[in-house]
Amino acid sequence: MSEGAILTYEKVAPKERHSVSSACGAGDVFIGFALNGKRDDKSWRARSVSCIIARFLVGLICSMAQKLVVGNWKLNGAFATNEALLGACCALPRVDAAVCVPFPYLAQAVSRLNGMALGAQTVSEFQSGAYTGEVSAEMLAEMGCRYVIVGHSERRALFGEDDATVGRKAAAALRAGLVPIVCVGETLAEREAGQVMEVIGRQLGAVLDLIGAQGLSRSVVAYEPVWAIGTGRAAGADEAQEVHGHIRRWLAEHGASAAEMRILYGGSVKADNAASLFGMPDVDGGLIGGASLSARDFMAICQAAAGGNF
Ligand code: PGA
Repeated sequence: MSEGAILTYEKVAPKERHSVSSACGAGDVFIGFALNGKRDDKSWRARSVSCIIARFLVGLICSMAQKLVVGNWKLNGAFATNEALLGACCALPRVDAAVCVPFPYLAQAVSRLNGMALGAQTVSEFQSGAYTGEVSAEMLAEMGCRYVIVGHSERRALFGEDDATVGRKAAAALRAGLVPIVCVGETLAEREAGQVMEVIGRQLGAVLDLIGAQGLSRSVVAYEPVWAIGTGRAAGADEAQEVHGHIRRWLAEHGASAAEMRILYGGSVKADNAASLFGMPDVDGGLIGGASLSARDFMAICQAAAGGNF
C-alpha cells in the first residue's frame, strides 16, 4: 500500500476530512504509482512533487464534479435519536455529504460522522464579546464544522435577518475558515410577480458587497424557493435548472468562479425526486430538510447524487 492510501479519516483533522474524502480513491492510485519506485534515486524529489500535484488535481477535479448533499436537521434532535440517525448514515463514494445539526449536538455528531462533514445552521456575525446567546464562526470551526448555513428563509422570515446581516454572517464564516452555504430564493408572491431573479440578485448582491467575488467563489449557494420548503411541493427539475442557470450566470457576471461553484437546490427534496433534480446540469446537490431526519431517505438522496447504484 502506498503512503497516500493509508491516509485514513482518523488521521485527518475534522476540517480536512471533506477534501480528503474527495481526493482519495483515484488520487491514491496516482500516489501509489508515484511512490512505488525506489526512494534512493534522484527522481525521488520529482516524484514527491508530482505526487502532491496529482493529489491536488485529482482532489480538485473530484470535488468539482461530485455533488454535495447537506442535511439540515433544523430544530430537531435528541441524543438517542441522533445516535440512531447518525449511526445509520455514512459517506458514499462519488458524493460529498454533510449534516447541519443544532448547536448542542455538534459535539455528539462530530465523532459519529462516518466520513460525512459537519455543519451548523446559523452563526453569529460577531467574533466575540458581549453578545449573549450568540455562537461565533471560530467556535464552530473549533467544534469541527466545515459548513454553516446562512440566510435560510426561516431565519430571514422568523428572526428578522436581512440581506446585509446574511452578508456579514457569510463574512464571519469565511474569516474562520468555514464554507458558508448562502441560501437564496423567492416567495410564491414574488414568483408570481415575475421577480425571481430580481430577488435572488438582490440577496446575492448584498453578500457580494460583504465578501467580494473571491469570497463568493469559496461559498456554496443554495437555491431554496420559499414556497417549496417543507411543503412537499418541490420545484420541477426544469424549473430548478432554469433558476440555477440564471444564478450561475449572475455569479460569473459578478466575477465569481461560477463554473467551479456548487449551487444546491433545496425545498422538498425527497428520495423519489432527487435523481431528476440532480440530473440537471446546474444542480450540484441538495440542501435537505425533512428527509434528512430519516437515514433511509437521506442515504437514498445521497445515492441519487452519487449517480444511482454502485
Ligand atoms: P425541506 O427543507 O427539505 O424540508 O423542504 C429544506 C430546507 O429548509 O433547507
